[in-house]
Amino acid sequence: MDLQSFSQQLDELRARALDAVATADDPAELDSVESAYLGRNGELRKLLGNIGQLPGPDRPKVGALANPIREELEATIATRRARLDEIALDVRLAREKVDVTLPGRALPRGSLHPLIETQREIARIFGQFGFVTYDSPQVETEALNFEALNIPADHPARDLWDTLYVAGSDRHLLLRTHTSPGQIRVMRSTSPPIRALSPGRCFRYEAVDASHGFEFFQVEGLMVDEGTTLADLRGLLDEFAHGMFGPDTATRFRPGYYPFTEPSVAFDIGCLICGGSGCPACKRTGWLTILGAGMVHPVVLRNGGIDPERYQGFAFGMGTDRIAMLRHGIGDIRSFLDDDMRFLGSF
Ligand code: PHE
Repeated sequence: MDLQSFSQQLDELRARALDAVATADDPAELDSVESAYLGRNGELRKLLGNIGQLPGPDRPKVGALANPIREELEATIATRRARLDEIALDVRLAREKVDVTLPGRALPRGSLHPLIETQREIARIFGQFGFVTYDSPQVETEALNFEALNIPADHPARDLWDTLYVAGSDRHLLLRTHTSPGQIRVMRSTSPPIRALSPGRCFRYEAVDASHGFEFFQVEGLMVDEGTTLADLRGLLDEFAHGMFGPDTATRFRPGYYPFTEPSVAFDIGCLICGGSGCPACKRTGWLTILGAGMVHPVVLRNGGIDPERYQGFAFGMGTDRIAMLRHGIGDIRSFLDDDMRFLGSF
């Protein structure tokens, strides 16, 4: 081999390498082209390995021939690599385009149960008049649920308030049928002036239908002070009705009966559906009863440790379920305890 044919082989290697670099169209392919030509076992090394076959005086000239070619190949590869990176970036940018104007994905958020929310709204309105919320047990003594409220064992009103009794207890424990025993507990634990609310779950032995639950909620209210009158009750309940159902809501008292209040009343609001002209929702009366109330019976005050000669009081009790149904237009009381997320999530 002489220097000329060596030089030809170099040129031919250069041409093939440049071609391979130009057609490599991804970085990995370019890497393998690079190592095939310039690597430790690459073609250029192999060709230079043949240097021994050249006549002695020609050997020193080999470097001058080969080095520019190596440098040219290295530079071409570097340029090509930069170009390929650029192309890859363009492709990614096009593919991973972010539309910042798209609305975000909403996180699922919890909400209060409509009964709890209604209970809080009731407490908020009465809170403006100084009423404070007390907790009272759901499992109650027969004495507080009935006797202390002036409902003796043989009283016919007991038929209205049948419930479940707790077996094996000599204290005659039952599931409370109303929140009214909370009145006695508040009177026994504090002294007048009293402005108390007592909300919570109640139970009755009921034939369940769209408006009667075996398990339901009430909010009890109690005010005891010197000189408290039925007019105070009337004014307060008007404020409540206007706060809860709107300032134009009509209200009225009707005579009612409860063993623990005297006199007793039913408190009605003008029908929210027909506005008072009469419809199926108000049984064509134009009125909806939302609670029972009255002046606390002297016997009940005394059972609460309060002197009825000095203090008077009023009490009221409303069905939280009923208030929530009227507020939200809910037709069936059973929906509240069905645990159907489609229902619960819609408030
Ligand atoms: N406890 C009565 C009921 O459950 C409601 C009520 C409470 C009436 C307080 C008068 C006074 O029906």
